[in-house]
Amino acid sequence: MTTPKVAFRGPVEVVLEPGQYYFCTCGQSRNQPFCDGSHKGGEFTPLRFEVSERESMVLCQCKQTASPPFCDGSHHDLED
Ligand code: FES
Repeated sequence: MTTPKVAFRGPVEVVLEPGQYYFCTCGQSRNQPFCDGSHKGGEFTPLRFEVSERESMVLCQCKQTASPPFCDGSHHDLED
């Protein structure tokens, strides 16, 4: 499997309203951390997740996390 592009070497904190969201897993989106459709034609697909109440979250932007869409600190292990 292809390794996703590192969109940014650190997480982003977002406050999300209740609803459905699509997390970018390919790293190509220009609307990080969310999918903008740039994955089309590739092997990645967005990860759908739901938020049931207004919530602050720390989401992955390096795309190496083992628990998407959340940051797990994997950006600290990226090589230069
Ligand atoms: S743009 Fe990255 S998964 Fe859709």
